[in-house]
Amino acid sequence: EKVPLKLEINGKKYKLDVEPRTTLLDLLREQLNLTGTKKGCDYGQCGACTVHVDGQRVNSCLSFAVMHDGKKITTIEGLADGDKLHPMQAAFVKHDGFQCGYCTPGQIMSAVACVREGHADSEAEIREYMSGNICRCGAYTNIVAAIQEVKN
Ligand code: FES
Repeated sequence: EKVPLKLEINGKKYKLDVEPRTTLLDLLREQLNLTGTKKGCDYGQCGACTVHVDGQRVNSCLSFAVMHDGKKITTIEGLADGDKLHPMQAAFVKHDGFQCGYCTPGQIMSAVACVREGHADSEAEIREYMSGNICRCGAYTNIVAAIQEVKN
């Protein structure tokens, strides 16, 4: 049986009916067509599904959508200001912080949280904070450079 759920996603209010075991990731991708958030492992291991819930980063594959009633969700689609990239998006472009790009939305959502939460003071601290976001192409050095640029 579906349950009612209210969410604000990227500034837009939604009233939904959701099957209780639907993950936030599947709700975003499959019901709302917000496919910028990626499914890598669906298991909490890769970080591709990272979004913000009330400003905190969350692996959306690990949490049920109904847990977030009344909350504000930000996905990669909500980061830019119209045509203007978010500074972290611009820094990833400038520093080639991606190769295939599959992990990039999750990397950027984590990177924004990294700076906002004050975990970007050193390369070691950045790498520690970002350790839940796996990049199979190995773009880590460039990702760190992008984060450092935004931090400074
Ligand atoms: Fe959620 Fe991998 S898809 S952590």
